[in-house]
Amino acid sequence: LSNGMSDLAPRSAGDWRSPAIKQPITAHRYTSPDYMAQEWERVWTKTWLIAALERDVAEPGEHVVFNFGRESILVSCDDDGGIGAFYNVCQHRGTRLVADDRGQTKNFVCPYHGWTYDNAGTLTVVPTRKRFAGGVDCGERSLKPVRCETWAGLVWVCMDDDAPPLAEYLGPLVDLIEPYRIHDMTLITDQTVSLDCNWKAVYDNFGELYHVEHIHPQHALTFDCPRAELGLYRHGHTGVFIEGFTVNTKRGVPDDPTPPMATQMRLYGLNPDDYRGRVLEVRKAIQQARREAGPALGYNYDHLTDEQLSDINQFNFFPNAMATIQPDDMIIMRARPHPTDPNRCWWDKFTLMMRPQSGDDAVRQHDGFGRPVRPEEHIGTDDRPGRDEFTHDQVLRGEKTMTITIDQDIRLIRDVQAGMHSQGFDNALLSDEEERITHHHHWLDHYMSPPSEK
Ligand code: FES
Repeated sequence: LSNGMSDLAPRSAGDWRSPAIKQPITAHRYTSPDYMAQEWERVWTKTWLIAALERDVAEPGEHVVFNFGRESILVSCDDDGGIGAFYNVCQHRGTRLVADDRGQTKNFVCPYHGWTYDNAGTLTVVPTRKRFAGGVDCGERSLKPVRCETWAGLVWVCMDDDAPPLAEYLGPLVDLIEPYRIHDMTLITDQTVSLDCNWKAVYDNFGELYHVEHIHPQHALTFDCPRAELGLYRHGHTGVFIEGFTVNTKRGVPDDPTPPMATQMRLYGLNPDDYRGRVLEVRKAIQQARREAGPALGYNYDHLTDEQLSDINQFNFFPNAMATIQPDDMIIMRARPHPTDPNRCWWDKFTLMMRPQSGDDAVRQHDGFGRPVRPEEHIGTDDRPGRDEFTHDQVLRGEKTMTITIDQDIRLIRDVQAGMHSQGFDNALLSDEEERITHHHHWLDHYMSPPSEK
């Protein structure tokens, strides 16, 4: 890399300050159809994207359709158990081949003239084939493949044959995330909301904790967000490491554990009354209690550090996805751009939980705030919840929820996008607490630069 970007990564959590971005973050990048078109050419088709959960293509014939911008990519498990990805387009006259989000089949039959492809993408049937004067070469006319790799229970695709392999692209995030054994977790909810904003407006929101004190006051009762450490990595990935089972120390430390802390403490056999005047000792106590209780509850914490047993970590995968991880559960979220409108996008959320090998799983039926996690009926079963799709307005009206915290974010995002259209807005001014946004846009600028400038 030129332009100094090789100095960026990898960075330890304590060494996270990045150089100033090359370009100001103007509204243009959130509202311009031209910028959006360049993003397609220079970002979306050049980077690795999360396309599917590996569990949804684990059995022969299972497939998932990943609709992304102007493209649709078919991820399929063939009869030998191999996972492949293909452009979801018939090689006869270009009809979109598979319409369903998910399914299981031996063959994909084009709805237009019946060309048929097996679940490895090979063209096998051409009706009235002898009427094609030059013949039909099934090898040439099989589905066009897309690069595809699996990691952490996820299927990743990349439309660029020259991009680095996935592990190289993700860099240090691989070692940071693997101890959590994501691939062993069970899917609990699958949600998609259509948002009235550019994909970066919502992604920026999950790239900083500066807003947390203002719109998520509940977090101050169990996390110390202002003291979170940041990690900035090559290719635009970032991380944030937040101490849990504590309080926002900037606001002062209460005499007694807060109610959400107390709920979790009781689940691990700790008496909150014993910690009167010792609230900052709760985090260590939980680490120890969780370590000791883990095997009896059916959890394997062998690869997790003490800090990972109490804290919440979030990793943002450039350009558009993130994983928020705790020892027994995680959330994967992903932005998908609209095919033509920079003012719209989709925001996907997958909630996963570790299913204990044995023991009492009462503990993991509560999230970090001690609230029950729903739907509990999926815990301990192999049932795959269907995707729940809804609109921005349905969240605003309280008809749908993606958790209280995310709903609070969604309430603001439409106004952010609206403000971007005002001639009264010049560009964003970012604080140190928003350094992950700076880093993301810096790397966005890098990808958006003409090849001759990289
Ligand atoms: Fe698919 Fe004709 S377009 S069979």
